Amino acid sequence: MEVKVWSYLKEYETNKEEIIKAITDVLESGVLILGEKGRELERQYSKYIGTKYAVGCDNGTNAIVLALRALGVGEGDEVITVSNTAIPTVSAIVTTGAIPVFVDINPRTYLMDVTKLEAAITPKTKCIVPVHIFGQCVDMDPLFEVAKKHNLFVLEDVAQAQGAEYKGKKAGSMGNISTTSFYPTKILGTYGDGGMVNMNSKELHDKMKRLRFYGAETTYYAQEQGYNSRLDEIHASILLTKLPHIEEYINRRREIAAIYDRELADTSLILPFVEDYGKHAYYLYVIRHQKRDEIITKLKENNIFANISYPWPIHTMTGYQYLGYKEGDFPETEAAAKEILSLPMYPTLSNEEVMYVCEVIHKILNE
Ligand SMILES: Cc1ncc(COP(=O)(O)O)c(C=O)c1O
Repeated sequence: MEVKVWSYLKEYETNKEEIIKAITDVLESGVLILGEKGRELERQYSKYIGTKYAVGCDNGTNAIVLALRALGVGEGDEVITVSNTAIPTVSAIVTTGAIPVFVDINPRTYLMDVTKLEAAITPKTKCIVPVHIFGQCVDMDPLFEVAKKHNLFVLEDVAQAQGAEYKGKKAGSMGNISTTSFYPTKILGTYGDGGMVNMNSKELHDKMKRLRFYGAETTYYAQEQGYNSRLDEIHASILLTKLPHIEEYINRRREIAAIYDRELADTSLILPFVEDYGKHAYYLYVIRHQKRDEIITKLKENNIFANISYPWPIHTMTGYQYLGYKEGDFPETEAAAKEILSLPMYPTLSNEEVMYVCEVIHKILNE
């Protein structure tokens, strides 16, 4: 048996007719960009997460860049986030001209340690970007307390946590603005690139619509300096076939997580820690062990493909040395990066495949 770390093929085979129809509908409609499919997806996705407005973008990275710009973040401003995130969270901050400032993570959840936030604030701080990593929400109440006290914006990065909840609220509905990614592996992913920005403020909505369309409200006339970051109709149409099933996808992810939890409970692995303030959407099932590299190699020998998200904290990467951080600055982030691995996790995995992964892990750990 081979268990891939992720694959869309089974999902595509099952829903082939619906997906091809979604694409054909667009091709036959005569509208490829900024049409009814995109607007309908914006309506349905905002309704799903509980915000008033949404603006579709071409990917999750540009969604962050433009959302920050909509908030007025720019040259020389400081934006606080974590080093344990996907590169785009940080590259997007840098693209606006702002300076990313990191805080360490909680070693149990791998999420931003909000008790460390206040110490990172300076007079230049303008925004906090909590990343709901691996499918679980950051502890938002204490984060908002700090944001309020220091008059800071909050941008939620929801790329890994569509459908996750914090105290009954959906990820992406709490900050001044939030962004997500529809990259294929995501909980709600398309067959290509896509992204979305959500907000409750009409002013931010109007600004975001201009920013993703060359700064224009009317074709050929720019009200402000903008960009091109439109979600195209084909991806919106594909996403419209998938959005109604998002809760099924999350429930299946939670079922798979429950099997891993049960079957791996009596091992030396550290399993995911789930905070009781919310609902984990299990974008990834991240486990931890000192012999991480050996486990990955042996899983591979048994045709099981695990992944590491992420093997290198951003502040240790060559591309980000200029920020001036050094090894040792964020000990929990650095320790986790050396020991974590993600097991295969996607709704079309069968119970047999999940059980096979558990069986092989037992064998490896008992050798
Ligand atoms: C936490 C996080 N933020 C941002 C992004 C960027 O999204 P995209 O790949 O659609 O640009 C991703 C996905 O790769 C991500 O995981």
